[in-house]
Amino acid sequence: MLNINNSMVMVVTATLAIFLLCSPSSVAILLNKLQLPPPVTGPESLAFDRNGGGPYVTSSDGRIFKYVGPSEGFKEYAYTSLNRNKTVCDGLAEFSALQPTCGRPLGLGFNHQTNDLYVADAYFGLVKVGPNGGNATQLVGPTQANSTVSADGLDVDPNTGIIYFTIASTKFQLKDFQTALTSAISRDGSFVLVGEYLANRIRRVWLKGPKANSSDLFMLLAGRPDNIKRNSRGQFWIAVNSVIGCSTLSSGVRVTENGIVLQTVSLVEEYGAEVASEVQEYNGTLYGGSLLASYAIIFTS
Ligand SMILES: *[C@@H]1O[C@H](CO)[C@@H](O)[C@H](O)[C@H]1NC(C)=O
Ligand SMILES: *[C@@H]1O[C@H](CO)[C@@H](O)[C@H](O)[C@H]1NC(C)=O
Ligand SMILES: *[C@@H]1O[C@H](CO)[C@@H](O)[C@H](O)[C@H]1NC(C)=O
Ligand SMILES: *[C@@H]1O[C@H](CO)[C@@H](O)[C@H](O)[C@H]1NC(C)=O
Ligand SMILES: *[C@@H]1O[C@H](CO)[C@@H](O)[C@H](O)[C@H]1NC(C)=O
Repeated sequence: MLNINNSMVMVVTATLAIFLLCSPSSVAILLNKLQLPPPVTGPESLAFDRNGGGPYVTSSDGRIFKYVGPSEGFKEYAYTSLNRNKTVCDGLAEFSALQPTCGRPLGLGFNHQTNDLYVADAYFGLVKVGPNGGNATQLVGPTQANSTVSADGLDVDPNTGIIYFTIASTKFQLKDFQTALTSAISRDGSFVLVGEYLANRIRRVWLKGPKANSSDLFMLLAGRPDNIKRNSRGQFWIAVNSVIGCSTLSSGVRVTENGIVLQTVSLVEEYGAEVASEVQEYNGTLYGGSLLASYAIIFTS
């Protein structure tokens, strides 16, 4: 037992040292700002459909917008509230008292086999939007997930279509999909990474193999982990925010499947005090999202 503890401490220390001292860091170079239609804000997370369309982003007024190109920008694609009144809801600001009725989508992910969009909404739980957008169908609603509980990170296993999403601290198992406290599944589906925001660390929950149904420490971070997104090489981008004095330092951290830090990119110039909530690499391009900013970004490191 002592040996196990000692080796765990060594692994933890080594990971931390790599993060703090050795990882190559750079400052993001902004290539483009994708502005949401004012006064809408909060593209907290992003997704791409199976044809490479998007990014699709979440927003403060309960809608999901799709970026259709530089001339038209973002267009309304879908919404999560089952009885959303456009007159009342469109343009709603973050933290508005009407968000519980208008919806607040936070996590997004496409099933590329069906082109259905799965959305974790803070008030409506897990909902599904068909391939043509518009209305959402509730899959895990307040009756199961409780309306006071906030759903956030979401990922769809590209091999099985199983959906993993974060809901407070309860693990649900449903008939045709499973949900857990999670943010990103590994490329081979053997584990799911769960960001522990307040603990500045990421846990790995094993789904397959000899360690199935157990979890271990994946890595420690020098700040709060927000969304985690897998890239096409099976690596992960983690949005990390460190509070130093009265300023917030946002960065994107790219790690291997084993939690080795490959790269740290500062997003301070892009997001300032507004906090980056997601970094996603799609088809060779880097995208950033934020809960409070009015734009998503395209950047290079
Ligand atoms: C990926 O990027 C390449 C080069 O920019 C582009 O030609 C291709 O259409 C993109 N693929 C998708 C699925 O967006
Ligand atoms: C939406 O809200 C407005 C303003 O309260 C109201 O006049 C209108 O009847 C509502 N629409 C529907 C379909 O409920
Ligand atoms: C959306 O749902 C509402 C209420 O159930 C329904 O009246 C409306 O026809 C639906 N719209 C679409 C496009 O399915
Ligand atoms: C939902 O929350 C209420 C109030 O906290 C609690 O009494 C109830 O048991 C919860 N329901 C579920 C299904 O968790
Ligand atoms: C993990 O849990 C599932 C469901 O309870 C069970 O079917 C499976 O055998 C367990 N796997 C291991 C390796 O314990």
